Amino acid sequence: MRNPRDYLIFPLDLPTYDEAIRYVDLLKDHVGIFKVGLELFVGVGPKILHAIRDRSAAGIFLDLKFHDIPATVKGAFLAASAYGIAFTTVHCDEGGGLLRTMVENNPSGTKILAVTVLTSLDSETLKELGYQERYVSNITDLVLRKARIAKDAGCAGVVCSGLEVEAVKAQLGKDFIAVTPGIRPAWSVVGKDDQKRIITPYQAIQRGADYIVVGRPIRASENPIEAAKKVLHEIETAIPQ
Ligand code: C5P
Repeated sequence: MRNPRDYLIFPLDLPTYDEAIRYVDLLKDHVGIFKVGLELFVGVGPKILHAIRDRSAAGIFLDLKFHDIPATVKGAFLAASAYGIAFTTVHCDEGGGLLRTMVENNPSGTKILAVTVLTSLDSETLKELGYQERYVSNITDLVLRKARIAKDAGCAGVVCSGLEVEAVKAQLGKDFIAVTPGIRPAWSVVGKDDQKRIITPYQAIQRGADYIVVGRPIRASENPIEAAKKVLHEIETAIPQ
């Protein structure tokens, strides 16, 4: 059985090396994976990856959300692979061709996760973008369509909201990884923000999420360690037996 900590991904959404390292040192015993996203990687560069590895046993998720023509993404992904990262991300929106390019050019066996529909999007935004009414009124169907493309291309899994995770697992199989951001514990001090399709850690794990990304509810808490422990407790009570 996995340790509750193995389910928890903490995003280091911070602008500087020192701030990121402060959270690595604070949370390294409570978090399975640290996620380095665009803000930190663009601002600080690869030295942050080496520093995380030197200071903790947690895995590294380099969340670059690739979205470009296949040749460009292939080059960028090969460069990222040299850092020996556990996970990275690519948007589904270029179709299966781009995803296959990454799957076929993956020298370090990085787990490639396809971003389906960002948790900051809702029906109104999908309508604005010109999506068909059947997807505007049923985001789960759109997530499933993109998840199918990702699975057929050979991706390890997807990023989706907790509202869709059950359907993704049911349709694409339990071994197809589901990473779920947009997590807001009932006790979270974070007010209304950019996340729209949200659920609690307990609900996400109970519905089958393999990993949950919990950022602001931990970071914005007065005591991030206590907040992380509360999330771990919720995870523990929700793990399917
Ligand atoms: O918990 P919080 O909202 O602070 O988490 C934010 C993190 O979730 C960011 O690092 C963002 O990149 C990530 N995220 C994601 N996929 C989404 C939505 C958010 O990886 N669909």
